[in-house]
Amino acid sequence: MASVIIAGVGSYAPKRVLTNADLMKIVDTTDEWIVSRSGIRERHIAADDEATSDLAIKSAESALIDANIKASEVDLLIVATATPDYPLPSTACVVQHKLGVPPHATCFDISAACSGFLYAMEVAYGLILTNRYKCALIIGAEKLSSIVDWKDRTTCVLFGDGAGAAVLKKVDQPGIGIIGSDLGADGEMVDALLMPGGGSRCPASTKSVESGQHFLRMKGKEVFKNAVRVMETVAREMVEQHHLTVDQISLVIPHQANIRIIEALSTNLGIPMEKFYVNLDRYGNTSAASIPLALDEARRAGRIKPGDYTLFVAFGAGLTYGSTLIRW
Ligand code: ACO
Repeated sequence: MASVIIAGVGSYAPKRVLTNADLMKIVDTTDEWIVSRSGIRERHIAADDEATSDLAIKSAESALIDANIKASEVDLLIVATATPDYPLPSTACVVQHKLGVPPHATCFDISAACSGFLYAMEVAYGLILTNRYKCALIIGAEKLSSIVDWKDRTTCVLFGDGAGAAVLKKVDQPGIGIIGSDLGADGEMVDALLMPGGGSRCPASTKSVESGQHFLRMKGKEVFKNAVRVMETVAREMVEQHHLTVDQISLVIPHQANIRIIEALSTNLGIPMEKFYVNLDRYGNTSAASIPLALDEARRAGRIKPGDYTLFVAFGAGLTYGSTLIRW
């Protein structure tokens, strides 16, 4: 039986680093508040002339090298992002052209906020198994600094910019690669985290700009409570469905939003924190980029070995959520 494997990964973070001390000059906050409430110490911020596609391309180039694949071999390109270069066309088309992915490739964006990379992986997995695609490039990329209200201390301290990418391929070896995926959404929670302006409900106008409709708004406590609940549920179900115990999971790569959410997940699942890969202290919440960025770092740090089980678990605006189980 055929499997779909992660053949290569890459990531990129913009050069500019914004520390908590820097933020203290912009809004009424403290390093102590940010670290104790979120675990974040610094985040990377894209330059004014750097868009989401620029970050995506750099991460993709590194993933293609890692997989020893040429851009010309990619026939499926998916970009997961909440901060596309344009409302239309897709950021995937911008990336395709600049990266040299051929015109016959299928290229589109996925909007599932912080769960976007796992949604992209599930879609690519299914399309590869139709045998109509040979090589998928999936990218999670965000320039969240472009939709954050830099006057709102309750949100601006939490987010950062970055990108991560993976090359997916089919192999004729059973039981490896993407062995399970469980995605979901709770549309009743749309209001908990959204950017109200710029879409068909509230098109851009002088009034929408003046009233701050084009910034991200979040009910932090509601998101927090739901995140812990749904991530625990999908992670536990994924392990049980595959007749594993939590002890057999070598590494959990959770969405990097808040250290307290990850610690609660660790306690509730009974998986020690040492088995969680955490880099939110250096990047903040990079939404769809967070899991592939952490995956790339974890792999390069030697935290993943052949035969290991790795569990990805995410939640985001929507509220979307999901878990994916990988065997290397
Ligand atoms: N600096 C100092 N004080 C602050 C700051 C700040 N940056 N932000 C808020 N405060 C104040 C508040 O005004 C409040 O003051 P008050 O009690 O006088 O009203 C106090 O700190 C406590 O605020 P809370 O909102 O109750 O703080 P909480 O402990 O809930 O932490 C946080 C807030 C960090 C946002 C938390 O709720 C959280 O992490 N929620 C989840 C958010 C998340 O993960 N979002 C990402 C979703 S993924 C996606 O799709 C993008």
